[in-house]
Parts: sequence; structure tokens; C-alpha cells
Amino acid sequence: MTTFREFPSGFYWGAATAAYQVEGGIENTDWAKAALEGRVPECGSACEHYTRYEEDFDIAKALGHNAHRLSVEWARIEPKEGVFDEEAIEHYRRVLQALHDRGITPFVTLWHFTLPLWFSESGGFERPDAPDIFARYAAYVVAKLQDQCHFFSTMNEPPVYASNGWLRGSWPPFHRFSFIDRVAITNSNRRVEKAPYRSVRSLWRYLRVMKQLVRAHNAAYTAIKLVSPAVDVSIVYHVIVFGATTSLWQRLRACVANYVWTHRFMRQVAKKTDSIGLNYYFYTQFGDTRTWRKTDMDWNFAPEYIYEALKILARYKKPLFVSEAGLADAKDEGRAEYIVKQVQGVYRALREGVDVRGHMYWSLLDNYEWALGFEKRFGLVAVDYETQTRTIRPSAYVYKEICLRNGVVE
Ligand code: BGC
Repeated sequence: MTTFREFPSGFYWGAATAAYQVEGGIENTDWAKAALEGRVPECGSACEHYTRYEEDFDIAKALGHNAHRLSVEWARIEPKEGVFDEEAIEHYRRVLQALHDRGITPFVTLWHFTLPLWFSESGGFERPDAPDIFARYAAYVVAKLQDQCHFFSTMNEPPVYASNGWLRGSWPPFHRFSFIDRVAITNSNRRVEKAPYRSVRSLWRYLRVMKQLVRAHNAAYTAIKLVSPAVDVSIVYHVIVFGATTSLWQRLRACVANYVWTHRFMRQVAKKTDSIGLNYYFYTQFGDTRTWRKTDMDWNFAPEYIYEALKILARYKKPLFVSEAGLADAKDEGRAEYIVKQVQGVYRALREGVDVRGHMYWSLLDNYEWALGFEKRFGLVAVDYETQTRTIRPSAYVYKEICLRNGVVE
């Protein structure tokens, strides 16, 4: 027997993108420089979303979305230290207007991984004054966009940014702590690039960057509230769910891992966040001997464990939004099932009293998957990068049904 699980009215349904991954034509960032040096794939014109955003939002609307998460590109808005580009702001105002025109509520992330070159070249988040610099930028953008957007996130996945950049050495600035290769902290099997630096100093620098990111978020929150007290300010956190078999030892390992990955950071920012964005991709079970079905990223196909991720964040007693969750699946064979199970997981958390207010699938479009380039396909909509043709995948219609009915069948 099947039952229809209805979500609370006003629930936000949609998808997410990030500026560098879709816009194209962004040349003044640490990632663009790394591409020139041959350390990461080139991003080039990506999905040309910078000029095609209206067409893309038409698709989102046709797919029943009432919300959309996007990011603005720091390097466009502040191309030189302390110099802000009004034209870049005007562009994003047009983008937000295009969403409103289609009845879609925007969620804006102020920084999604890429840094302006002037900032990365002068030390990036290792600069002692980085929190103030970031807070100035954040407050500037929010003051300019507040009449068009209520939901702002300061930053995307700080621990992913810091661990790929300072421990794994796979992202700029390519520092590596080689011991990390031996610790299976994720089920990601991410390709580890050959990094020039491998030193114990990287670990120390990583810890410093994490501290700076805490400070940067908190400073940005305070600065935003001074200029725009009414907006909702959140942080987007990538929760890896560490579970365990029943053995006491494995449960202890899971507890420690959840603390180290999520709570150690979150407890330092929890007082300065109005809501929290959850990005969910990984479930790892200690003591597990199962053979998992895999996504195209070689990640475990475990959508239902989003429930556990929401429970982990529920302890901070803030409204939660699923700001990203999804899979790479070029053939679109498992995406519909994945989405349905993921949404059922969200419903399970809601039923247990967790205050979840939205669900944004990653991603609306296929896009630049960082160090893996354009090969991985996360989109509800397929992109042909030669012709820039968009093709809606069949699974997008399954999600459309969920969005329009405001619920899921179980
Ligand atoms: C990031 C996205 C990325 C996605 C899939 C998230 O960690 O926020 O930028 O594309 O995961 O790897």
C-alpha cells in the first residue's frame, strides 16, 4: 500500500547551482589561475549561465521549482581589494529579478569555493585580516541585494574547502598532508592529485584556516546584521554522516568522527546563524561490510541517510534547509529513485519534529565538477557543452511531481 506524505505548506522546492561552476567567463580567481597552470581542468564558458540564466530559470519554473539556490562570484564583485564593481551587482540584481518574475524564491550564497586572485595571492584565508575582508564583502553584497533576497548564506562547506586545499592537496592552494591519504574519513575515493607540498605544516595550516573560516563567518554575520538586520543569514555545511554497527567500539568511532567533522566547527558558529543549510552526499558506516551500489562519483548510493544528517544538525535548534543533495548519474538510471528516497528521508526527519523548510537538489544543470572537470553529470538538466543545448532528464519530471504536489509517495 502506498501513502502520500504531504510536506508543510510553503515548503521550498528547487535546485542549486554555484557561480563558478555554471556562469562561465570568470578569469580572475584562484581556480582560473590553477587551470592556466594545468593543475585543474579549465572551466572556460561552462554552461554560459551568465547570459543564459533566463532560459535556465524558465526550465526551473517549468519543472515546478519555487526556490533556487545560487551563488554570487566574489571575484566579479570585488575584482580588486576594496574596489567593488557596481555593474557586477547590477547583473546579480537582474538575475534575482528573473527568479522573482518566475515566482521562484532565491537563496544566495556569498562565497562558494573560488577566491578573487588578489585575495588568494595575498594569503587568502591565511591572512590575519581575512575575516574582516570577508565580512566587508559580505555586508556590501547583502546591503545591495537585500531588497531582492531574504536568504543569504555566508559560505559553502568550509571543511570541504579547507581539507581539499590543505590536507588532500587536490584544490587550490594545493597543500598536502600526506598522512591523510591513509585515513578513510569519507567514502568519496576522491582522486588525489599529485601535490607539490606534503608536509606536517599543512596540518597546522589547515587548522588555522578552519579557525579563520569560523571567524570569517561570525564576522560576516555581525557585519550583515548591522546593515540588514531583517535578512536570514545561514552557513552551508557539508555533513558526512558517520554511522556504526552495533559494536561499542564502532559507535565510539562514529561519535568521534561526527564531532571532528561537524560539531567541532558548527558549535563555534551556531550562535551566529539564523538557519543552517545542509549539503548531504556521504554516509559512512564504521564496521560495515556491505558492498554498496555506487554513483558515478564512486560514492555510496545512500540517499535515505539524509535523515541522519538532518538529525545531526537538528541539535542546533535552527531552521534547516537542504541546500544541496544529489548524485552524478550520466545515464539517469538511478536519479529518480535517489531523489524519491532522499525526499522520503527528509519527510522522516520532519515527522520527528526536525524543522526542515526546503529541499534544493544538486544541481539544476550539469556543470564544472571542480578538479574532475565536466565529465560528471549531476544535473536535472543535461548540458551539451559544444552547443549549450539543454535537455531535461526524465528524473527531473519525477522531482517535478514531488515539487508540485508538495510531497512524496511512500
Ligand atoms: C559542492 C558542489 C559540488 C558538489 C558535488 C558539493 O560539495 O558544494 O560545488 O559540485 O558537492 O561534488
